[in-house]
Amino acid sequence: MADLLKLGVLISGNGSNLQSIIDHIEKGSLKAIIKIVISNNPDANGTIRAKKHGIPVVILKHTDFKNKEDFDLELIKILKSNHVDLVILAGFMRILTPAFLKAFSHKIMNIHPALLPSFPGIHGQKQAVEYGVKISGCTVHFVDEGVDTGPIIIQSAVQVLDDDTEETLAARILKKEHMIYPQAIQLFADGKIEIKGRKVRIKAQE
Ligand code: GRF
Repeated sequence: MADLLKLGVLISGNGSNLQSIIDHIEKGSLKAIIKIVISNNPDANGTIRAKKHGIPVVILKHTDFKNKEDFDLELIKILKSNHVDLVILAGFMRILTPAFLKAFSHKIMNIHPALLPSFPGIHGQKQAVEYGVKISGCTVHFVDEGVDTGPIIIQSAVQVLDDDTEETLAARILKKEHMIYPQAIQLFADGKIEIKGRKVRIKAQE
């Protein structure tokens, strides 16, 4: 059997995407192993979820470091010592430094709650409701030096209803997030992702 893809998951909050990745791994629809979960927030609910499934957790408070660079160097150290192949940002509320991007070039994925390039940054769902778009959704993409600008891997659309609030739309988008993030990771595990410039091509079945 081929080696399982080794994941390092970075979180800051609830960790429902982390939970979905765990669930897909446990039911066999995602051939990967989570080597480590790192949270910059000691109170993140996601740390409880990880521990429940016997996944090692490290709390790394960014406020304990004198700058972003030092924080990221420690992140890199932990991820490398766990032989992580792919870094998964799952609600991780920190911007990564160039050194981190270089250490895991084209090996960092993020999920964003809007159809990029619309509504990047925080509160993607609120921006969509306030703008009045009829369709929003979520995007899994590789991380580059910009904010939510990297090559897009998978997107899923969600209809915006007339009476949607930020919360109701976010809840429907989250359901789609839980489907497409594990799919994108499985594509990576299968070696089916080809990046050309800012475009991702999904290779056909061999
Ligand atoms: C999700 O909406 C994700 O798109 C965004 O942060 C949120 C994380 O939610 N990047 P959770 O912690 O996975 O529940």
